Order: sequence, then structure tokens, then C-alpha cells
Amino acid sequence: MRKVLTGDLKPGMRVAKTLYVSDGRILLNSGVILKEAYIRRLKEKDIPAVYIMDETLPEVEVPEFISDQTRLQTAETLRGCMNSIDMGTELNARKIKKTVNEIVDELTSKRHVIVHLNDIRAYDDYTFGHSVSVTALSILTGISLGYNKLELRDLGVGALLHDAGKIKIDESILLKPSKLTENEFEEVKQHPRIGYDLIKETDGISFPSAHIAYQHHEKYNGSGYPRGLKGDDILEFAQIVAVADIYDAITTDRVYRKALPAHKALEVMHNLMQAQLNPDIAQMLFKNVAVYPIGSVVELNTGELGIVVDVNKEDLSAPVVRIIKGDEINQDEITEIDLMHNKGIIIKDVITDRKKWEDNK
Ligand SMILES: [Fe+2]
Repeated sequence: MRKVLTGDLKPGMRVAKTLYVSDGRILLNSGVILKEAYIRRLKEKDIPAVYIMDETLPEVEVPEFISDQTRLQTAETLRGCMNSIDMGTELNARKIKKTVNEIVDELTSKRHVIVHLNDIRAYDDYTFGHSVSVTALSILTGISLGYNKLELRDLGVGALLHDAGKIKIDESILLKPSKLTENEFEEVKQHPRIGYDLIKETDGISFPSAHIAYQHHEKYNGSGYPRGLKGDDILEFAQIVAVADIYDAITTDRVYRKALPAHKALEVMHNLMQAQLNPDIAQMLFKNVAVYPIGSVVELNTGELGIVVDVNKEDLSAPVVRIIKGDEINQDEITEIDLMHNKGIIIKDVITDRKKWEDNK
């Protein structure tokens, strides 16, 4: 399967992964053949891309790092929170903690979860999808740092609610595709404090969780907002969420901006690590995300094209690549190269552009 931007979808293409709307209903089932009307609906709903079956690529299973069911359940809890904030009623701390505990249990029960973030949100709403991913990425980082379950829960609750204050910010500013004016940016900068004030009033939600919302836009070198906190004056939980927040934002398709592939996103993160992010924490995130996610089409220094079919946890930059020969997927003649054990062979490029791949064959 491959990811196709909504603008490039054509009738007749077959959907490879079920797409949900954020209330859990199915928008498009896996296996459905696209029609003009479906494509129109995807555009209306601002869905940036869809997974399409591709007969010229070998079918590889991309492992989910959290199940669709957990994602949808978490989005549902988050929607409940947003409604409570909107209506001025108290957040349901018990439900929030239960949901986060489920993510913690799911992630701690799997050994060595590797995130293949070529993933499209399983549903349509960016804010929900983003908060759920940030929660899971933050918890994974916390696991790598050796946190206990209670710490993981406090971290997860804060991560899930980190942008809760955005509900009080004008939507036209939040969704504005072009650069914000100074006044608009000043308004956006209010959301950490608004979120903090809302969360700290909630019985049953810990003080550190509330401070995650308050501090998630602070930067390691002191250039962040709202208070310009610096270095380890920023709560470690908030430093973790800041790293996850940036990584997920740059690897997610938006209507106005295409996602960066994982290897480019990691480059961007490396640059930010010089000043804006705690380098030790960013390294912990890197341990958990695939540089070349399963399903990526890559070009090797041998000139051959291949598809990533497995990753080596010990060296995420050296995955197992199945060589693609022309358009023929001949199951009797599979050549797989494990780059960890073939040190002379390296990945030269990631082919994200279908045209470039066609030209290369
Ligand atoms: Fe934020």
C-alpha cells in the first residue's frame, strides 16, 4: 500500500486502510473502490491523504504502535474533556486516568515498540489525532527513561491535555494556513496558561500533569513561551511532551503542508536539539521511531530500489530491504538485504515521490 494525497486520488483506486471520523464511525472501509463522490467527501472533510492498495508494491504489514481501538477510545475521552471545558463543567479525571492507563498498559506490554510514523491518522480530526499521538510518543519516551507506572500516568494525562487551552482560542487563528500576525500569535501564546488554569482546578489530576500544559512550549535555551523558562527549570515531563509535540507535528500531513518523511523529520529534530530541545530526551524519542518506517520505498547505493520490510532495533538506520524488480512481484524470487549485516550497502534516498520512482524503474 502507499499513501496518496487526497488531491491526487482517482476514482477506481482501492482503499488499503480503514479511515474513521473522530467519533469512531467509519468513513471509508478498507477494500472499498473510490468513486468521485467519496473523493469529494474526503476533500470536504479536509482529510489530507489516504492509504491506497498498490499492486506493483509487495504487500507489507505496517505494525500499529497503538491499536485503532485505543486511539479512538482516547479521542473519545478527549472529546469529553473538550465538551466539559466548553460547558464549564469539571473534567472527568477518573475517565482520563483510565484511558491513559490503557495506553500505558498497551505500550508496556509490547516489547520494543517501534513507531512507524508513516502512519495516517486513522480519523479525520487533526487536534484529536495529534493529542493522542503525542500522548503515546511521550509515554514511550517515559518508558525508555525508566519511569514507573504512576509517573507514566501523570505524564500521559498531561500529554493528552497539553493543548486543552486551545479550545478558548479563536478557531480561525488555529486553522489559519498562512503566517500569523503578531497579535494572532500573542493570542495563541495564551493557550498554555489557559490549559494550566483549567487542569489545575480539576480534582484527581496531579500538579505535574497541569504543568505539562503550562510548560510544553518552553524551549531548552529559554526562547519559548509563556515564561521563557530555561534548561532544567522546565519540568522533565514538559520537555518530553515538547519533543513529542514537535515530532508529531512535522510528520503529520496537514491540508496546507505535506508531512516530512521520518528521516527528514529526524534531521530537523537533530538541528533543534542544538538549542531548543533537551538532547538527552530527544535521543530517547529517536530510540523509538523508525528512521525508515516499514513500507518506505528506498534507493540503495547499489542503484537498486527496495521496500523496507523490517527494522533492526539495534540500528534503526539499517533496516531490512526487499529489492523491487520492475513491476513484477515474483514471490519465488525475493531478495532481501539486511543492511545491518551488509555494511557496504546503505540507503541513498527515500522515494516519496511516485513519479521519481516510476522514472527510476
Ligand atoms: Fe500547544
